[in-house]
Order: sequence, then structure tokens, then C-alpha cells
Amino acid sequence: MTNGRVKVGIIGSQFQAGIHAASFQIVPHEAEVVAIASPTPGNAAALANRFRIPRVFTDYREMLRERDIEMVTIAAPNSLHAKMTRDIAAAGKHIVCEKPLAMTIAEGEAMIAAAKRNGVLLMYGEELLFTPKYLKAKEMADAGAFGKVYLIKQSEKHFGPHSAWFWDVNRSGGGALMDLGCHGIAFCYWFLGRSPIKSVYCQMSTHVHGEKTKAEDDSLCILEFANGAVGLVENSWARRGGMDDRIEVFGEAGCSYANLHMGNALSTYSENGYGYAVEKAPTTKGWTYPVFEELWNYGTPQELTHFAHCVRGKETPQATGEDGLVVLRAIYAGYASAGEGRKIALPYEPPPEVKNPIDLWLNGAARQQTAPH
Ligand SMILES: NC(=O)c1ccc[n+]([C@@H]2O[C@H](COP(=O)([O-])OP(=O)(O)OC[C@H]3O[C@@H](n4cnc5c(N)ncnc54)[C@H](O)[C@@H]3O)[C@@H](O)[C@H]2O)c1
Repeated sequence: MTNGRVKVGIIGSQFQAGIHAASFQIVPHEAEVVAIASPTPGNAAALANRFRIPRVFTDYREMLRERDIEMVTIAAPNSLHAKMTRDIAAAGKHIVCEKPLAMTIAEGEAMIAAAKRNGVLLMYGEELLFTPKYLKAKEMADAGAFGKVYLIKQSEKHFGPHSAWFWDVNRSGGGALMDLGCHGIAFCYWFLGRSPIKSVYCQMSTHVHGEKTKAEDDSLCILEFANGAVGLVENSWARRGGMDDRIEVFGEAGCSYANLHMGNALSTYSENGYGYAVEKAPTTKGWTYPVFEELWNYGTPQELTHFAHCVRGKETPQATGEDGLVVLRAIYAGYASAGEGRKIALPYEPPPEVKNPIDLWLNGAARQQTAPH
């Protein structure tokens, strides 16, 4: 087994790729980013320059030929995750795939199979499992602080994504549920010790971004777990005021509330404004809530360090391709539920021709009856 810092290549050069690069620099002793690949000329070079990454490629397949690279992170649009994962696995490198795992369940299964076949790890980029505040809630729950947990809520909301491809359902697979609900579903599943998901009930609608996308910009999702607990996952691309992420945990003996951003922020008033408050905040004037140590509070540096430890065989992956597939199956059931206007029991198999979870909502009988004309 190779020793020393794990050599990493990043695919993508924009939002999440920047977070990966910054996170590896926050915890520099376990891994080093040696290469970056992104197709738009100049973009990868700009990120490489910012983080002193030595090698730059416009075609990620060329980066995969670099023999010393051991782990590759995928920070590219959802529709590319499956092909990239298969290519990385075939090159014999470990994979960190950003959420959501893939566009279809068949793709997700093929990704897991490709990793197994090539003897590499497929790790799933779900940082909520590493978010310090949420980890504390889980530690308390596991220590019995709340007795038997019967309800967990997780919500993530903002005013919509930063890049055009998110709004195009053929590249993203869906709206707020696909983009943000994957966090909440993964969180509830993990918090409850991976109790199987028995059913999903979802309601969704498009309130403010109908001109821009066919996708839902608001969604409510209720999950029933085999152990009797319920998860409520709320997501929005319609919520103004910057990123909002929070959890609530209720058990027979207690409860806990955690507000990831505002709970950690400095309550601030400024006439003049200042540099940066929080992800997707539209202004820094007036009353604002600037966060500090944003990436650390999200958990991304801890997540990527953990994955580097897994590559060295020091730890076992806490978030895997299999977890991503459980989440994707629940997302499919969620879109089917909203489309059919009823609770969907799992396991649920979407019709094989469905290549895009949101089509189950867009073409569903319930949606056809209620969609505004
Ligand atoms: N874990 C999180 O909280 C989180 C946050 C944001 C995004 N994400 C996920 O990360 C992924 C990327 O999202 P983003 O926000 O960085 O998007 P983005 O639009 O900011 O960046 C996408 C990147 O992919 C690159 N790309 C496009 N086609 C490519 C190709 N063929 N080969 C290589 N690179 C290609 C683009 O050039 C760009 O650099 C998505 O799957 C998204 O869901 C996760």
C-alpha cells in the first residue's frame, strides 16, 4: 500500500470543485491535490492557480492516465457522474462522487459494480454526515439523550442554484428534491442507523422559478422508516435570504434543534456592507448573519480527510455508493409520490424507460390534474 499523502485529482473547476480544493488545503496533511480537469479553457487553470495545483487538464480522461493519482473527486453536473465514475474505476483510482449519486438507479448500480470490479472505493459526497453540529446531535442520540427517536426533520433552502445546468432537468434530474433533498434523506437514514426506508410521501410545486425551469422549486417529503421513526425533509429553491440548513430531533425523552448557519453566525448590522456573509446571501447590507469557518461547519474538510484515510485503509467509508443509491431510490419514490398524489411503498421500481426522476412528477396523473395552466 502506498504511503504518504493521498494524491488527488479533481474533476470540475467551479463551485463544488473550489470547495474540494479549499477543503484539502484546510486539512493538508492527509491528501494533496495534484491535478484538476475541466473542459472550459482557462477555468481549471484559474482554480489551479488559486490553490497551487500543479497539473491542469481540459479532458478528465487524460488526467486519469496520471499514474500517481490515487483518488478522484467528481464535482461535475449530475448527468455526468455515472460515466465519470466508470472511467475513474477503470483507471484503478478511488472515487469520491458528489451528491446525488446518479440520474438513474441503473446508473447507480453500474457505478457500484464498476468500483467493485476494479477493486476501488466508491465514496459518496454527503457532508451532512460530517457536519460538526449535526454529528453532535447524532452522538447525543446514540448515547440515549432523547430516548427512542421518533421524528427527525432536516431542511435545506435557498433561492436557487448558481449554474444553468441545475435548472435543466435533463442534466440535473430534478429540482429542489433532487438537489437538496438528497442531503436530508441521507441525513435521516444515517441518523436512524440506516433503518430501511419503508415509504415516501412527497408534495412539490413550482412557485417562483416557473419561467426558468420545469423543475419543482419547493418540496416536502415524509419518509417512514422500518424502526417506526419518521423523517420530514423540506427543501426549497424559492426561499430568499441565503442558505438555510437546519435539523430537529424528537425522541421520547428529549429533543434538539440545530440551525447550521444562523445558529453559528454573528448577528450583524451594516450600512456599508462587507465582503461575504454566507452561501447564496444576496446582500451584506442591513441585518445579516455572516458565518465563520463555513467549510468546517459544513463538514467538507472532515469528509474528504476521512475519504483519504479510507484510501490508506485506516478507516471504513461512512458514506458509500450504496448509501447514495438508497437516497436515489427514495428520490425516485418521492417524485412518483408527488406525480401520483399518494404515498409510495419501497422498494419502488420506476418504469425502465424513465431516465430522469422528475419525469415521474411532471407526467404523473396527479400533477396533470393540478398543474396551473
Ligand atoms: N455537497 C454539496 O453540498 C454540493 C454543493 C454544490 C454542488 N454539489 C454537487 O457537485 C456537482 C457539481 O456542482 P457545482 O455546483 O460545482 O456545479 P458548477 O456548475 O459550479 O460546476 C460544474 C463543473 O463541472 C465541469 N464540467 C462540465 N462538464 C464536464 C466534463 N465533461 N468534464 C469535466 N468537467 C465538466 C464544469 O466545467 C464546471 O467546472 C453536482 O453534482 C452538485 O450536485 C454538491
